[in-house]
Amino acid sequence: MAALESSKRVGTAVVSKLYPTRSHTGAAQGGIAAALANLEDDSWENHAYDTIKGGDFLVDQTAAEVLCREAVECIYDLEHMGLPFDRTADGRISQRRFGGHSKPNPKYDPTAPPGTDNARPRVPVQRACHAADRTGHMILQTLYQQCIKQGVTFFDEFHMLDLIMVDGECRGIVALEIATSELHVFHAKNVLIATGGFGRMFKVSSNAYALTGDGPAIAYRHGLPLEDMEFYQFHPTGIYRLGILLSEACRGDGGIMFNDKGERFMEKYAPNLKDLASRDVCSRSIYQEVRAGRGIGGKDFVYLDIRADTINKYKTSPTGKPVDSAWVESRLPDIIDFARTYLGVDPIHEPMPIQPTAHYAMGGIPTNVHGQVLRDAEGTIVAGLYSAGESACVSVHGANRLGTNSLVDLVVYGRRAGRAMARDALEREFQPIPPHPEAPTRTAIDALLSRPRTEPWAKLRDAMQVTMMDNCGVYRTAETLTKARDDIADLKRRYQHLGIQDKGTVFNTGLLEVLEFGCLLDLAEATVAAALSRRESRGGHSREDFPNRDDANFFKHSLAYSYGENQTSVVYKDVDVIMVEKDGQRVPKYPLEVRKY
Ligand code: FUM
Repeated sequence: MAALESSKRVGTAVVSKLYPTRSHTGAAQGGIAAALANLEDDSWENHAYDTIKGGDFLVDQTAAEVLCREAVECIYDLEHMGLPFDRTADGRISQRRFGGHSKPNPKYDPTAPPGTDNARPRVPVQRACHAADRTGHMILQTLYQQCIKQGVTFFDEFHMLDLIMVDGECRGIVALEIATSELHVFHAKNVLIATGGFGRMFKVSSNAYALTGDGPAIAYRHGLPLEDMEFYQFHPTGIYRLGILLSEACRGDGGIMFNDKGERFMEKYAPNLKDLASRDVCSRSIYQEVRAGRGIGGKDFVYLDIRADTINKYKTSPTGKPVDSAWVESRLPDIIDFARTYLGVDPIHEPMPIQPTAHYAMGGIPTNVHGQVLRDAEGTIVAGLYSAGESACVSVHGANRLGTNSLVDLVVYGRRAGRAMARDALEREFQPIPPHPEAPTRTAIDALLSRPRTEPWAKLRDAMQVTMMDNCGVYRTAETLTKARDDIADLKRRYQHLGIQDKGTVFNTGLLEVLEFGCLLDLAEATVAAALSRRESRGGHSREDFPNRDDANFFKHSLAYSYGENQTSVVYKDVDVIMVEKDGQRVPKYPLEVRKY
């Protein structure tokens, strides 16, 4: 999106370690949020409120309002580019329900008996625009086609290994051509990092192998901070053991989670929105059920049931009318296919075994609403450097992202960043770069290739994934986090001595995987440091030793910095709060409230 926007005014290239349409956006399934109000009343203000509450109030509020307001225009832009959204009967873009997306209940009556429909202050709303359960795939294809049409230059299978930083400014990147191992220097007026997330630091993840956080790790090594790294989202419904995503659209379209006793356990944890509560709440609820011995067969998974009979029995159909299997199959074709292929389970006839899966980094490289990277708590801009999408933290997700807000984040803020980059590039000349900016990268690669083969790097990677999952997962304590910190420090020391078997130059994927693993180790270090430092529970960060939200001390974003060998420091910066005039007083537009669903 950024490249498309920027290329309308200035020469633009995309450097991608994957063939672009293999990027992980293509795996996003259920939808992209925008308050189009195609099927029922809705407003961008409802969307902004849900986003801020969903993020457990750690969201920067101006950024959230920009997101939700501009989402509507961005969806129509995508539609006009040719994105094949599903349609309503009268031809408008189809929308479905997703967790945490709601609107005020028009029938709400605070005196109504608990558990009745009128006792619910908010009710789910159909806000996720979708193309079946392949929404990200369609967005990626559409944007790629538009970029080709617009003349964007693509360097496919070029792996970024360094930023060229001069006097605190970014002036380009160093990338390795995967086919030949040749290093290339890209001299640019502006660079945007859009390398996605880093779920591969955990053992069970919905993320593709390529999601190793290269961009944030390289920024961190250059002394730039990473924001809110302790907030990592576990999606409640990953395929048991494999982690492959089974979209939240399953529950949006009426699916229900059950424990071993056949109980719809979310009624207990989120009496209002139930299975459509936010992801952090649902993932914790699954863990609670498993800990209480109510996982299926006493094991560490529960069931997700999307059978038409179940949807009809519990009256969870989004249309309010009974559904049949053909309807379910038409709404969730890929999910059903995944379950048949990877689980040998046919969701039309059987429930699917699921467990929480590491899914999305709320944290990342701090940016402002123009995608410009920030170097400190005061908001000092790093000239020439931008970021958007999951690698960035403009902080619209706070402590927990709502489903479908990632796709809208990357289109809204990708577009904004592309525009800002083009504007800036037209106003200034290229700045010089030093001779051989690739030299440090060359030295690091040569060292790795010249060492004799050592213990297998994959063994170290597995150890990182296990310690992060066990000790820095859905639940954490000072004790588990200290263990994770020590494990990561040990792995980083051993990483320094790694030698690999393949010394070749043609498609040396072993070399690249070791370099990617190095990125994950740095990001794991920052994640654990930020998690240890935040002594409260908020959104996706659940400290069992500090189970409550502590607004007095931690209503703040964290910034993790790397310095020295294996040293981190964590500082804090204020959350952006919008103030409004009410009864002659300045009060917060979105007052802090206890977060219940
Ligand atoms: O559940 C899903 O379809 C995922 C969407 C998202 O992470 O936004």
